[in-house]
Order: sequence, then structure tokens, then C-alpha cells
Amino acid sequence: MKLTDAEKALLQGSEGPARQKAMELLVKYGEALGAEKLVETNNVCVSLTAGAYSTPRPAATERDVHAALSQMYLDSDEPLEIPRARVYTCRLIREMDPDNWELQGIDPVRHELNLLTERVCAGIGMQLMHSCTPYLLGNVPVMGEHCAWIESSAVIYCNSVLGGRTNIEGMESATASMLTGRTPYWGYHLDARRLGTHLVEVECQPESVMDWGLLGYFTGEIVQDNVPVINGVRRAPNIARLKHHGAAAASSGGVEMYHIVGLTPEAHNLEQAFGKRKPVATLKFGPAERRQAYENLTSATSPDIDFIMLGCPHYTLEQLWDAARRLEGKRVHSSVSLWIFTPKALKTIADQEGLTDIIRRAGGVVMTDTCPCISRVSPKNVRTAATDSAKHAHYMPAMLGFPTWFGSQADCIEAAVTGKWRGELK
Ligand code: F3S
Repeated sequence: MKLTDAEKALLQGSEGPARQKAMELLVKYGEALGAEKLVETNNVCVSLTAGAYSTPRPAATERDVHAALSQMYLDSDEPLEIPRARVYTCRLIREMDPDNWELQGIDPVRHELNLLTERVCAGIGMQLMHSCTPYLLGNVPVMGEHCAWIESSAVIYCNSVLGGRTNIEGMESATASMLTGRTPYWGYHLDARRLGTHLVEVECQPESVMDWGLLGYFTGEIVQDNVPVINGVRRAPNIARLKHHGAAAASSGGVEMYHIVGLTPEAHNLEQAFGKRKPVATLKFGPAERRQAYENLTSATSPDIDFIMLGCPHYTLEQLWDAARRLEGKRVHSSVSLWIFTPKALKTIADQEGLTDIIRRAGGVVMTDTCPCISRVSPKNVRTAATDSAKHAHYMPAMLGFPTWFGSQADCIEAAVTGKWRGELK
């Protein structure tokens, strides 16, 4: 790999052992991927956490956290102090809601370790976003901006909707990018990888958030880690629809980028989306494909619901507002837990607007900073869950062990109130 003089100096330890380790890791990683060089980045998203992967013990210190982070993410045998982030770095979702950790069932020692890790992250200059949706919180890469992000639903949004450039990074590579301001120049940083591979002709117009989730889930299952080009969409989707669409495609397949002809920034027309290539396959998304995706997403059979999860990826303010309107004057059934996830910054606005209070009075809980699949935590004794997220419907049965219904927000809130699932594909 060709390195600049500044990169060679870092590799030789000019700025200390942690940045040296980080550069070593990036060089090995880039060489394994066939990258010819590194590219500068000033936009990193990573979820440094000492809590999830180490055994918490009482009276841990900031030094212990630095040691744990350097072992886990820099592969260092020696405990190292993690220096300040060299470039703009956002800390993404974590395992704990700081206000509802007891309700989550997090034990006090783990809670303390989470707070300690948060202080360390703030101390090294990370932005504490604590969400999988950094683009809802002001981290909105511009067209062509090279980024190093973890989190598949955020990566696909960055590449497809914003025109930023990132691969799905791991915690280790993104930590190394934070400390060096570099990432391997390969994959979705390159023009050629961003061109479409599969054409998806839409015959069944996606309208709702649920429809966009179904379209993403259908597409991802077939194209896997390729780049679908969706043609024939007549109505522009909003942020919530694109967020759910990308999260679904990244879950059923490994889609990191898609195009919607006439809507997303690198697909003004089919020629731009495919470049000089021909599609390797053409898919149709009609009523039968929509139904198949719906059925593939449903793992539950019992109509008796215990848990409703909303907010994967984290809810927008508009989705919180919709949920509050649907819950106003109602009461969540005594046998159901309704947990709604959103970034803390958006919850602060929802608090000011009275939305959180409406949801709380109805018996729901607005949670921040985490989600059930990241925390591996759900209410006790759940037998059947429901969600409006194709991504969570995909992962909850395997990660949390209970069958799950998939439907619209309206279906989910009706089930929260009645305790019975009556959702269906309309
Ligand atoms: Fe976000 Fe958790 Fe879903 S990280 S995308 S809410 S699985």
C-alpha cells in the first residue's frame, strides 16, 4: 500500500503507541482488501463501549476503560491510553438508556461502567450522539464526502440518500480511523463500486413506511451485497421511509447502497445509475413479491402480544408525533410493554412539545440511546412481540428469542392498546 510521509510517520510511532497501533491496523486491513492507499476522512461514526464486551467490575477507573478499549479495538497487548480523536467522530448507539436502565434490567455495576465509558468518550472528543441515525442529528455528509461509519442502516443511508462514501466499518477499523483520520480507499469510496448491478421495476407503488420496508426486504434478499436500482417510483419517499427501506435491505441482504431513479443523487436517470453496465438481472416488485416479503418477515402466530417495539432505526420527530397522536387519550393494555426508541436530542424536543407525556400517560415509554437488539434486553417474559421495523422483525426472533409480527405503526399501536395483533397486509 502506498503511504504518504505523514502516514509513514504515524506508522513509525511519531504520535505515540495508540495512533501507531491504529495505523498498523488500517494498513493490514487495507492490504487484505486490496486497497492501494488510504483516503483522508473527517467523519467517523463508531460505538466505543467497554460495557458490552468486558466483564464489568465495581470501582473501575477511566484508566481501566482506556485499557479495555485499547485491547478490544486496537488489538494491543499492552494497556494504552486512547488519545484525542483526530477527526470529527460520533459515538453511535450503546447498550443502555441512561434514564430507563433499571426498567431495561441493566445491573448497577454495568450502568456505572457505561457512565464511565461515556465520560472517557467525551474526554477524547467524541460527539455523544448515541443513536444509529447520526443523519437525524446533524451529521449529514455532503456528496462525495469520505466517511468511516459503522452501522449498516446508517451506512446505506449515507451512501444512497446523501451521496457520502463509506463502507460498513467494524468497531476496530472505525476506531483506527478516529485516531488517524484515514480509511482504506476501497469499496464504496470508489466510483465503480457505486454503480447499479440489479434493476428493480416497481409495479406496486410503495406508499407507507411499511411498504418501503417491504420493498427493501424483498430487494435485499435477492441482490445480497449488490447495488439495486429501483425504477418506477412515482412519489418521493420521506426520511422515515428511506430510513426503513435501507435498514430492511441491509438486513435481508448486505446492501450498502441503492439507487432510486430520479430521486437519489447518483441516479438522475438509468444511464447514470448503471454507468456503461447492463443490469445482471431485472426483478419485479409487484403484489406477489410484496406479500412474500411480508410473510417472510412474520415469525409469530399467536395474536396475544406482550411487547411492541417502535423506533428501529431510531424514530424521527415526525414518527414520534404520529405515535403520540395515535396514543392520545388511550391506554396501553396491562399485559403489553410499549417501548419507543429515538435519539436523546429528539426526545428533548418531544418532551418540550408534550409528545413524551402523551405517550407516557398512555402507558408507553420513550427510550433513548439504545435498542433491544443492541442491548439484548427486552421486557421480562415476552412470548410474542410486534414491530413496525422490518429490521427488528428480522433480528428479534434470533437475537431475543421471541416470534414477532411485522406491521404498520397503526397496527402496532392498536395491538399495544388491545393486547391482540390484528394487523394484516392491506
Ligand atoms: Fe438502530 Fe438498533 Fe435498529 S441500532 S437500526 S434501532 S437494530
